[in-house]
Amino acid sequence: MTDPADISAPARPVPKPAHWRLSDIDFDAIDRGAIADDPLAFRIVFLASFIETGSDLYAGNLVEFFAGDAEVSRWLRESWQREEVQHGHALRAYAEHVWPEVDWQRTYDLFFAAYSRTCTVGDLEPARALELAARCIVEMGTSTFYSALSNYAREPVLKDLAARIFADEVRHYKHFYRYFRRYQLQEGHSRWRIGRTLLRRLRETRTGDGYYAYRELQNAGHSGDSAPDADSYRAFTRSFESFIWRHGPREMPLRMTLKPLELPAALVTWLTRHAAPMYALWTGGGR
Ligand SMILES: [Fe+2]
Ligand SMILES: [Fe+2]
Repeated sequence: MTDPADISAPARPVPKPAHWRLSDIDFDAIDRGAIADDPLAFRIVFLASFIETGSDLYAGNLVEFFAGDAEVSRWLRESWQREEVQHGHALRAYAEHVWPEVDWQRTYDLFFAAYSRTCTVGDLEPARALELAARCIVEMGTSTFYSALSNYAREPVLKDLAARIFADEVRHYKHFYRYFRRYQLQEGHSRWRIGRTLLRRLRETRTGDGYYAYRELQNAGHSGDSAPDADSYRAFTRSFESFIWRHGPREMPLRMTLKPLELPAALVTWLTRHAAPMYALWTGGGR
């Protein structure tokens, strides 16, 4: 697995083709007995499969936003978008192998109908550097999530798949960060403005597409599911945050979050050492 702390290494200037393919995953080798009765794994695998598959729409918006920048557009189209879509396909195939009783396509279509109304080019940040900083937050979130999932999973195929996706997400972060720095040199946003952008996107990662995905999955009526009301969603987000706290990395998300602020190295080290209580608050701190 890629060293999660190694986020300072420069991203490759030339887009690298996806280094794994769907055919590399042996879905027939899934040990259903190790996962089929795990309600948390059920929800997070389905939700991740919906969100990754739906990211194709956001990717199209982002390509449009960077029209005229040949390097960024090419990387977005030929590497990033393809890899995100592959994440969706792989997670879908996994979910359908383990929980065939859920109609994935029908549930996804309902999720997408709601999600697509909220995801437009107009929802992107007002400047390219700011959107790239915000993308760093999203990739930080996905890197943290897949790292936690790989640590948590006892089922070997899921463990391997999550580790592969984790490596992709860390690489995405590095690319977005490198492009952020290039645009920031031109646009020169204040640290205060970048910080507000990061915070806003952090807050959005806790709502947005996750709720639509949760709602439609609950409506799909898997045995034992409760109605998707505000209380059940709150209970789910609490268990998800606890999962991240227990199984995810601690230092990596903080370093990734702070990096676009380009703070002095000593301050970053001090903050990552002393920010555990803040981080616990954000992730739910082991509830
Ligand atoms: Fe992804
Ligand atoms: Fe990603």
